[in-house]
Amino acid sequence: MLHNKKLAVIASLVALMFIGMAFVRPQDDPKPKHNFKVLKKDISHEDLEKVMKEWAGALGVKCNFCHSPSADSASHHLDFASDAKPEKNIARHMYKMTGRINKKYFSFNKDDSGNTIPAVHCATCHHGSPHPGEAK
Ligand code: HEC
Ligand code: HEC
Repeated sequence: MLHNKKLAVIASLVALMFIGMAFVRPQDDPKPKHNFKVLKKDISHEDLEKVMKEWAGALGVKCNFCHSPSADSASHHLDFASDAKPEKNIARHMYKMTGRINKKYFSFNKDDSGNTIPAVHCATCHHGSPHPGEAK
């Protein structure tokens, strides 16, 4: 009986500790949760994953080519919202440029609803390399 009570006290202390950790984390982090400057702010998780995989594949790189490690060095996660790596901003610039090329030079390429079908993608130039200008 006494033994059970002790266990119950320990269990609730451990539970409180975890609850406390869950509440402290977001307050420690003053950054906004998301940081979208070119993609739609309400992009679905599936669409975001599709775009990110497309970009990584087109350049032949991993996620950490554009995304910097989390400041919390104990975790091995990437801080996806951080803009610390310059490659991330270059990618935004490239995304806008690719959109402009399609709109300006390939606007004849339309679907039934009159929307421009993109003819040029990241892979059109990059072909699996981050530096398309250099000979492989
Ligand atoms: C070529 C550069 C590049 C690569 C490679 C890349 N990303 Fe991104 N990622 C970006 C950019 C740029 C944004 C911000 C888009 C914006 O500003 O609208 C972003 C945003 C994100 C976000 C949203 C962050 C937020 O603000 O909430 C997630 C999650 C993410 N990327 C995951 C991934 C994953 C997972 C991979 C690997 C499969 C990956 N990315 C590969 C450039 C890249
Ligand atoms: C019209 C051709 C073209 C298209 C389309 C294009 N890029 Fe680029 N990209 C380049 C060139 C050229 C460079 C410069 C390469 C160098 O510095 O050696 C470059 C450089 C980059 C870099 C910087 C690499 C580094 O190491 O500094 C990133 C990141 C990048 N592109 C991402 C993208 C993404 C993401 C897309 C699609 C949204 C895209 N690019 C579409 C031609 C293109």
